[in-house]
Amino acid sequence: MSWTVAFPVNRADAEALPDVDDLFDAPPTLNVEEPDPARPDDWLLTAYFADPPSPDAVTRLASLFPSAGPVTVAELEEADWTTLSQRGLEPVRAGRFLVHTAAHTAAVRPGDRAIRIEAGLAFGTGQHATTLGCLHALDRLGKRRARPARIADLGTGTGVLAIAALKRWPGAAAVASDIDPVAIGVAEGNARANRTRAGRAAGRLELVTAPGLGHPRLKARAPYDLVLANILAPPLIALARELAHATSPGGTVVLAGLLSGQARRVRAAYRRHGLVPMATLGRAEWPCLVLKRRASAPGTAGGRKR
Ligand SMILES: C[S@@+](CC[C@H](N)C(=O)[O-])C[C@H]1O[C@@H](n2cnc3c(N)ncnc32)[C@H](O)[C@@H]1O
Repeated sequence: MSWTVAFPVNRADAEALPDVDDLFDAPPTLNVEEPDPARPDDWLLTAYFADPPSPDAVTRLASLFPSAGPVTVAELEEADWTTLSQRGLEPVRAGRFLVHTAAHTAAVRPGDRAIRIEAGLAFGTGQHATTLGCLHALDRLGKRRARPARIADLGTGTGVLAIAALKRWPGAAAVASDIDPVAIGVAEGNARANRTRAGRAAGRLELVTAPGLGHPRLKARAPYDLVLANILAPPLIALARELAHATSPGGTVVLAGLLSGQARRVRAAYRRHGLVPMATLGRAEWPCLVLKRRASAPGTAGGRKR
């Protein structure tokens, strides 16, 4: 990833992020972010290219976003970029969870469930309200004596939520996925750094590259007692039926990545498939929804008897 193409877009364009894999010989990795929560319609799209993008590639990319503003092309100095991205990553707490970088190990207190995550090429350093909301949800579920045996984390990014869930429930078996293979590589490194062992057995984490539940391993391992999905609202809505089917009766689903104005639509989509809203956590503009699957809901994936 050594070149970036960045331009402002509106929220609708950011959320409808197109699949660019077939449009470029060397497809870029796309990232969208909302730089200022006070201006929720002003987003920034950044495309990471491995090689200098041609003028044609830049024009083609910008033409995919009707609201695209002025385009900036820049070379990323790897060393400088890493240093810059580490700056300001203060440790963050969510209940007993503490997410910190190697530079802040001194912040760990006795009793903390500490997770070490370095800044890098994947989302999920704990700094964003969506990640924090999910960590609070995990902390709360733990206090309610939930004991999920099978956990899925969709859109795992750095792997932070899957790692946190296994720290809370060390006997559970977890699988985590991301649509972005770069993120899966980052999550593998973070799992190692946090002594989360790779594998399919109890206490281990399996990582796969896939959109949503679109991987045979994710389907084979269902149903899940706990599903975490911090993705944007449109893919969450699109996933509602499949995700509900992959959740065990009485199981819990934690959703984030949606904006407050989208919460009603997301809840409605999941309610249609037997997932009842239990709580809304997190910061107002980035709510985190905790849902429970009705114990009497019809058939689950995988046919596991409980
Ligand atoms: C907001 S980040 C969440 C990262 C981490 N789970 C956290 O809570 O901080 C969303 C992640 O979902 C991935 N993603 C986006 N759409 C996806 C999809 N349809 N299926 C799976 N992953 C997706 C992105 O690549 C990104 O890593």
